[in-house]
Amino acid sequence: MFLRNCWYVAAEAAELGRAPLGRIVLGEPVVFYRKEDGTAVALEDRCCHRRAPLHKGRLVGDAVQCGYHGFTFDATGTCIGVPGYDRPPVGIGGVRSYPLVERHRFVWIWMGEREKADPALIPDFHHNDDPAWAAPSAYLPVGANYLLLVENLIDLSHVAFVHSGTIGSDDTKASLEHDRGDATVRVVRTAKDIPSPPHMQRLGVGARVDMTKAITFHPPSAITILITWTERATAHPRTLHVMVLNAITPESEHSSHYFWVAARDFDIADANVTEFYRREVIKAFNEDKDMLEAQQASIDLAPGAPTVNVHGDWGGVQARRMVERLVEHEAPRDVAAQ
Ligand code: FES
Ligand SMILES: [Fe+2]
Repeated sequence: MFLRNCWYVAAEAAELGRAPLGRIVLGEPVVFYRKEDGTAVALEDRCCHRRAPLHKGRLVGDAVQCGYHGFTFDATGTCIGVPGYDRPPVGIGGVRSYPLVERHRFVWIWMGEREKADPALIPDFHHNDDPAWAAPSAYLPVGANYLLLVENLIDLSHVAFVHSGTIGSDDTKASLEHDRGDATVRVVRTAKDIPSPPHMQRLGVGARVDMTKAITFHPPSAITILITWTERATAHPRTLHVMVLNAITPESEHSSHYFWVAARDFDIADANVTEFYRREVIKAFNEDKDMLEAQQASIDLAPGAPTVNVHGDWGGVQARRMVERLVEHEAPRDVAAQ
């Protein structure tokens, strides 16, 4: 169940260069590279000759040459060369190309109808290249359905359990506010006078804080989490912010590409803090990966096994409904056939 007419993060901008990169997006093989002028390109990663993946080939100027028998495709996917022929025989065609936009240090891909690819629909991830924020980021492949990641990020009650040694603090008594708009689901989690998380204590933050986490879901799978900590019981209490940007791109029904950014507005010039943050978040998100992959395996074993909902599941349930409705609207027959 994938939404097609929307933007997904395909790669961090720094991942793309003059070597072809193959990645599966919504079950489709895509090859990415940069033209000589730096423009990013995305083509179907399946040669029209015998279906070899083009990422096993090489770049020739702005074109990609299949590594198997040398068919060559320009940046629009048109076949422009077949070995042994002066020009490609009539009817060879080529491979599909996909709209791409580079924004906020990410490369966004549109997998649906080309004429609907409006860059104004890209979620606001500006914290990733805003000089007022320091923003370590990374890519993490996760062997779980993208909606399991969405639920994980909307229901942060898991933080006290999965991340108790890293970014977690016991906020299980946090109050929750919910709000569903036309195109967003919002959950605000507030806790007063709780222990500050282990990683913040190591950065010198006071032992107890007030905390707010404002989580906003943009369908189908972008989530921003603005965390605010205010120190308690210090002479000059500081208020610190971290904006966690999350973009989850389905690879298959059982696997996802997870791109994250942990932008902060304090000590932004301190490269050691940036590196520390990167390491801590990688550690924490690998804890999520471990749990999510185990959860996916459990679901696969018995897909019909029952589940129950509690208060904290409101956001995840709303997000799923919103995605289901959008997918149904986009491809009613596909949904009916499921
Ligand atoms: S499979 Fe690509 S040229 Fe033959
Ligand atoms: Fe987590």
